[in-house]
Amino acid sequence: MSQTAKIVLNENEHDLPVVTGSENENAIDISKLRASTGYITIDPGYKNTGATTSAITFLDGEKGILRYRGYPIEQLAANASFMEVAYLLIYGELPNAVELQLFEGSIKRHTLVHEDMKRFFEAYPAKAHPMGVLSSMVSSFATFYPESQNPDRNSEAINLTIHRLIAKLPTLAAWSYKNSMRHPFMYPKNHLNYCENFLNMMFAMPTEDYNIDPVIADAINKLLILHADHEQNCSTSTVRIVGSSQANLYSSISAGICALWGPLHGGANQKVIEMLLKIHIDGGNVDKWVEKAKDKNDPFRLMGFGHRVYKNFDPRAKIIKKSCDDVLEKLGVDDPLLDIAKKLEKVALEDEYFKERNLYPNVDFYSGIIYKALRIPTEMFTVMFAIGRLPGWIAQWKEMTENGEPIGRPRQIYTGHGNRDYVDVAKR
Ligand code: CMC
Repeated sequence: MSQTAKIVLNENEHDLPVVTGSENENAIDISKLRASTGYITIDPGYKNTGATTSAITFLDGEKGILRYRGYPIEQLAANASFMEVAYLLIYGELPNAVELQLFEGSIKRHTLVHEDMKRFFEAYPAKAHPMGVLSSMVSSFATFYPESQNPDRNSEAINLTIHRLIAKLPTLAAWSYKNSMRHPFMYPKNHLNYCENFLNMMFAMPTEDYNIDPVIADAINKLLILHADHEQNCSTSTVRIVGSSQANLYSSISAGICALWGPLHGGANQKVIEMLLKIHIDGGNVDKWVEKAKDKNDPFRLMGFGHRVYKNFDPRAKIIKKSCDDVLEKLGVDDPLLDIAKKLEKVALEDEYFKERNLYPNVDFYSGIIYKALRIPTEMFTVMFAIGRLPGWIAQWKEMTENGEPIGRPRQIYTGHGNRDYVDVAKR
């Protein structure tokens, strides 16, 4: 039975429709509220605002559920390849063998980056953060592929843009790392799979081959899958809102990369390692840093703890913790930062402050540790997140475009000065 919500404003009752999702989540539809009452709603940080309906990802923060197109993340992480998951998110169904072969073939065909773009890298300082380089490069794609700007959005051109993006992002990512080391770029090798190819471009040298360890390639595959989508988070909402102005896909994704860079979002995995290093240099007293995180007068927070949506546990963290333990054991990694991470996890999980606030290690806590063990440089951690999140951003952009959603344009309640007259500069 369809529900209705009632709102009473100045003694007038207004009925508002209730929207129910396929997993019985309910929302009060306020899209006509201002037109009928003159009121808007206010919700800083959008903690209670559904920006859209979406058929891509379901997550239940209380129960720790995450599903892409209905498939549990646990099953996908255990069995699928990142390419299958990318296809699933973007096109809505898991590919059959032929579809997967065609998709992978097309991605492999587009892995090269235009030679003219190589010169851009030379202009960046060696210390340039790879996220800054990545977002600028992705934005530049729109100038190299002007057909992507076509406002009539024919599906063939969009598909080409999608495949180019997925194919070229690892190349750009690896090249921004090579550039930061002032090492020669390694070209993609198309006989390798997506994760192996990325690792090869990162770690091979013209003078020396790189032996791809299947344990590492498998861990990267899992990490990319776990990061592939997470419904309407900060970067995804950014992609949707930029795309809602009918900006091209490259520009929308570039904006998403910028949003992901922040330490409260994808940048947290880098901050986790920086925090562990700080604690190590300070003598490794974990309790002292836990106390600092609890002190309201101290801005320090435990990076990699807490989540806006997951309030019991982060299902991705559960999977990656297991993978993290396996990788550390198989690679025989002995690192003092990992010992600090383990102590921190234990102390924080037993401490009342963290228990009361439901602050658990999130996916970035373990992904930071795993990337470090895999010898991925710290500044590349968020780039890894971006490669993983790309299919999700694309799927969300595509859904928004296909649904013909209106341009995103929130309102505000103004709290500034009332009307006042201009005063000449000499008289101020
Ligand atoms: N360390 C110490 N205290 C914390 C932490 C933390 N990491 N996170 C939240 N709190 C406290 C916060 O001070 C507040 O306490 P009180 O109720 O006494 O004022 C309470 O917990 C609720 O915090 P909040 O900031 O209102 O929670 P939020 O849902 O708005 O923020 C968060 C979520 C992820 C931004 C936050 O937990 C945080 O800053 N975590 C550290 C950064 C991090 O790991 N980010 C990665 C998130 S997962 C990757 C992704 O999906 O992007």
